[in-house]
Amino acid sequence: MCGIVGYIGFRSAASVIVEGLQKLEYRGYDSFGVATNNPRIDVYKCEGKISEKAQAAQRLHGSIGVGHTRWATHGVPSDRNAHPHLDCTGRIAVVHNGIIENYAALTRELEERGHRFRSETDTEVVAHLIEEYYRGDLVAAVRQAIARLKGSYALLVTAEGHEEIVAARDSSPLVLGIGDQELFAASDVTPLLGYTERVVYLEDGDLATLDREGWHVYRADTPVRREIEHVSWDVETVRKGGFRHYMLKEIFEQPKVFYDTLHGITPESLPERYRRPSEITVVACGSSYHAGLVFKYLCESTCRIPVRAELGSEFKYFTPPLKGIVMVITQSGETADTLAALKKAKAYNCPTLAITNVLGSSVTRIADHTLYMRAGPEISVAATKSFVAQLAVLMQLVNLMSPKNDFAESLERANSAIEEVLLQDISRAVEICRPAQHLFYVGRGLFYPIALEGALKMKEISYIHAEGYAAGELKHGPFALLSEETPVVALCSPGDTYSIMLSNIKEMKARNAPIIGIGARGDRELIDIVDVFIPIPECHELVQMISTSVLLQLLAYQTAVALDRDVDQPRNLAKSVTVE
Ligand code: G6P
Repeated sequence: MCGIVGYIGFRSAASVIVEGLQKLEYRGYDSFGVATNNPRIDVYKCEGKISEKAQAAQRLHGSIGVGHTRWATHGVPSDRNAHPHLDCTGRIAVVHNGIIENYAALTRELEERGHRFRSETDTEVVAHLIEEYYRGDLVAAVRQAIARLKGSYALLVTAEGHEEIVAARDSSPLVLGIGDQELFAASDVTPLLGYTERVVYLEDGDLATLDREGWHVYRADTPVRREIEHVSWDVETVRKGGFRHYMLKEIFEQPKVFYDTLHGITPESLPERYRRPSEITVVACGSSYHAGLVFKYLCESTCRIPVRAELGSEFKYFTPPLKGIVMVITQSGETADTLAALKKAKAYNCPTLAITNVLGSSVTRIADHTLYMRAGPEISVAATKSFVAQLAVLMQLVNLMSPKNDFAESLERANSAIEEVLLQDISRAVEICRPAQHLFYVGRGLFYPIALEGALKMKEISYIHAEGYAAGELKHGPFALLSEETPVVALCSPGDTYSIMLSNIKEMKARNAPIIGIGARGDRELIDIVDVFIPIPECHELVQMISTSVLLQLLAYQTAVALDRDVDQPRNLAKSVTVE
């Protein structure tokens, strides 16, 4: 999704901004652009990768500027539609993240008043609105312009004749970086790392000014105080650390991430009112939704509390009554559908609980209470360590809700189990997956959401069509697709579902499907019926589940590398989906 960076200070703004935009590449983008204020407004913008055009963009002069990575929503990816957008005079430059829902009506109105539009974007209307209201005071003009907007925005504006950047946010993330004689603004903290650890998270409805004298935040035209917070993520954390891809680095961070997150949640983390809810509704998207499904199985069986798991994008069609607590799970804390669900839950007066990885993200500002994962920044688009961190939070949550607290100790074994799995040779399984057009992932019980997540990883980064299925459901349709060309990844660990999984595998084998079986080390019965066996350490079922999940991440990763895919930035996907 779009990313924005702004800078005012003593360095070359274009250099800082381009470098910052590269750190935001993980959000997904199709074009990028920079405008500097020197004091003339100069713009460089184009479709394509930043790495190919960085030098040209960095030639812009000036120590004040704004930049943007665009992920097309209104208008195709193109040079013209890339941000920054200018007003008719070319003196006001705007970058925007979000969607202006009433842009069509505003555009008509402004065109009637003589404004000429150059792009198909919703954003350009903001530049013309500011021009319309401008009477020499940029801040006043921005204030009047945003009062006309419906939708979501994080905006940065700079204009000829003004040594300042005006920033505004409503339902899209925006953070300020406070340096020494220099100020930054960005969609998240990654572009600021290395320059400053002091950040200010703007709130919805805030308007901020950044100039040579300092920074100020306003609500309407009243100044408000915003605390400076310290971020402890360092630059090294966001670099690849010697790994070929961010995804691999993040997969290898999981033993520590799981341990840190598990120990980060203590009895004090969960207020009493969340301990014994009558029921729980979990809402999330993508991998976070799969973590929510794991929670459903685990919480219902351990705590006997009814749990429903809903997709964020479908929750708006769900008709209340809404009872008990509503819990949202979101790595980024910015997923639009998840935020909309949270707002709906609040409108129904349900106590709300958020699980996220990003301190100060939008979700933390809306939910009544937040539990944090300790995954650190996840750069690769495909979720890996954030998924495992979510599992750690959710398992601790069940521990805190359950009177018997019977698996806390077993989880201490998880980090060493993950370490073992990371050393596993899975090349034979990769050989089977690589040429496949279609793959099935099957599991039962707790392993069903893990099958869904494994299939999601495979399709996201290898582009192989992979479907996760509850193993028992395969007979109700997908059996028709099984053949020697449709490999099946079967999750078959010791536990409640083991024997019935063995029978299911035999049925699939009888339809000639090559089987990659994942099960406990030394399981002869399984080894004898599958084509390729991948062992995981035999331990508590929950630890086996985590180990299996890590293995499936590796399987997707190695298959994608073998197919020469763009692992960290798969086509058409975005890390943080901030539109519904
Ligand atoms: C995008 C990402 C997924 C992620 C999903 C939900 O689709 O590519 O990896 O699982 O959004 O994101 P969230 O930040 O809400 O967990």
